[in-house]
Amino acid sequence: MTTATHAGQAVYSASFLNIYDLWVHGVSNRVLWRCPTERLVAHYDQHVSGSHLDVGVGTGLLLDRCTFPSTNPRIVLCDLNENSLAHCAERIARYNPSTVRADVLQPLPAALPPGSFDSVGLNYLLHCLPGDIPGGKWAAFDSLKAALSPEGVLFGSTILGAGISPNLAAQGVLKLYNSRGIFGNDHDDLTTLRAELERRFTRVNIEVVGLVALFTARR
Ligand SMILES: C[S@@+](CC[C@H](N)C(=O)[O-])C[C@H]1O[C@@H](n2cnc3c(N)ncnc32)[C@H](O)[C@@H]1O
Repeated sequence: MTTATHAGQAVYSASFLNIYDLWVHGVSNRVLWRCPTERLVAHYDQHVSGSHLDVGVGTGLLLDRCTFPSTNPRIVLCDLNENSLAHCAERIARYNPSTVRADVLQPLPAALPPGSFDSVGLNYLLHCLPGDIPGGKWAAFDSLKAALSPEGVLFGSTILGAGISPNLAAQGVLKLYNSRGIFGNDHDDLTTLRAELERRFTRVNIEVVGLVALFTARR
């Protein structure tokens, strides 16, 4: 972990994870980000595969609620924070997931071999990554692209921090989170997200719901 990436994962203590679903998926998605959690679950339903890597897993609510195309999917969970990995792995223990502790901004470890996943999900991870690091947060797409099989899909969503119209409450929370390093999305706008995806992938689709950009990208 680098000093820059520390803050974006440090808040995920075991006790914060116990209230995360209520605060993020219950209140914030509806009131602040204006993208209901059901929309995020639908995004997972549409794109998750039977060989799935999830990065930045948090409590695993979306993996728990979504429908996998097979009854016995291969699921690998990757996160920088041990608490998130443990919480999520326990929640979806019925799928017997494996866990890998890694920083998405560093080269992926050998436990995540190139070309080995038909889907890679990263939900609400990008806005947690610092915006001011050498190489930029978007370098995360390079290593995750490498993990995809040739026909695989990268998908997820991120809260935009620029070029959007937040309500007053969202403005306050965005400012607070960015000042504490919990979010690093001050400069994340739709144009940048699209350009960074299109630099690396040929088929890119982005839909904006409230302040949230839901994306898919294929080689
Ligand atoms: C906002 S939570 C998202 C949880 C879940 N995907 C969801 O949508 O509810 C962000 C997660 O990303 C992890 N994270 C933050 N920075 C990371 C990094 N540099 N590498 C890997 N994981 C990171 C945090 O530990 C946390 O579990």
